[in-house]
Amino acid sequence: MQDSFSRRISYLRLSVTGRCSFDCMYCTGGASQKCVPAELESSEIISLARGAAAAGCSRIRLTGGEPLERRDIAEICRGIAEIPEVSELALTTNGLRLSEYVTDLKSAGVGCINISLDTVNPGVFRKITGRDCLDRVLTGLDDAVSAGFRSVKINTVLLHGLNDDGHSIRELAELACRYSVDLRFIELMPVARNDFSYRKYFSDKSAVFRALPELMPCPEDDAGSGVAKMFRISGASGRIGVISPVTDKFCRSCNRIRITSDGKLRPCLLSPVEYSLRGLAVEDIERKIRLCVEHKPQEHSLAPDPEQTERHGQIRLTMQRIGG
Ligand code: GTP
Ligand code: 5AD
Repeated sequence: MQDSFSRRISYLRLSVTGRCSFDCMYCTGGASQKCVPAELESSEIISLARGAAAAGCSRIRLTGGEPLERRDIAEICRGIAEIPEVSELALTTNGLRLSEYVTDLKSAGVGCINISLDTVNPGVFRKITGRDCLDRVLTGLDDAVSAGFRSVKINTVLLHGLNDDGHSIRELAELACRYSVDLRFIELMPVARNDFSYRKYFSDKSAVFRALPELMPCPEDDAGSGVAKMFRISGASGRIGVISPVTDKFCRSCNRIRITSDGKLRPCLLSPVEYSLRGLAVEDIERKIRLCVEHKPQEHSLAPDPEQTERHGQIRLTMQRIGG
């Protein structure tokens, strides 16, 4: 499926729940979630995936909230992996319950796992997530790597004063030396809630290059199709990536759409426009997705300068519903 700017849309990010076991400061503003967004039945989620696959999405990533908070997650994965047009099923998790689910996810057809992990320091982990369970996440990572998924990646959101100093970045990069994983540093997007200060915590990608001057760019054809620019560290089996939605717009090559945990199609992460798909038959879901993709915006409006972005008003999204 093509949008009106000739971009080929083939990647669906499907949020399966708004519930999350963490209260990350940049997601909930550190406050416990009181009202949880509506959630779809597993059969409704599978129908949405069928409609999107029929419209041309061959790659589907399940997101949340935290997808492993759903007891029926393996059933959802199996149902989606069986769709003939789906060539890749992936899942992004906070890692807390990963050890518990690793075998079920693998046998249900999940090929790629991305784990959100912003620090390997227990105190900083508690400060960012509101939870004291770094060890469980690290065990989840270990188990995911041992289970032999096609790919395991780590996502680290750069947070000024918490994990963007040389020591913290090198400590995290060490994971890409210990394991054959891609660790991607991500620039914070201004999507926080409550009193979280975007301006205070934003750190741009240069922190990574200062801390790891030895990074060597991967040749273009080795870099994969994702949103990250990839680099090698000599002697390491894993790679380091940088995702910089704020300082480098990658809208021109955007190939993705999103469906929120309450069944709304969102053609652009950073634009508030949504279209409800709830209650539609698979053929109608396909038709509506094709139609709405024509209205995918050309680009988002985040400014590279955090002060300017804040002046223009933070884009206050509920990341829990959208899934990043
Ligand atoms: P791969 O399929 O492994 O490349 O995964 P991914 O990078 O698409 O997904 P993941 O869930 O690991 O997201 C990584 C980070 O990239 C998150 O912070 C996302 O919010 C951000 N991101 C992903 N897609 C987009 C996008 O379309 N626009 C913007 N601005 N950021 C995005
Ligand atoms: N800015 C950048 N990345 C974010 N994520 C969540 N919130 C933000 C934000 N405000 C990332 C998480 C997760 C991915 C799906 O989105 O690290 O790995």
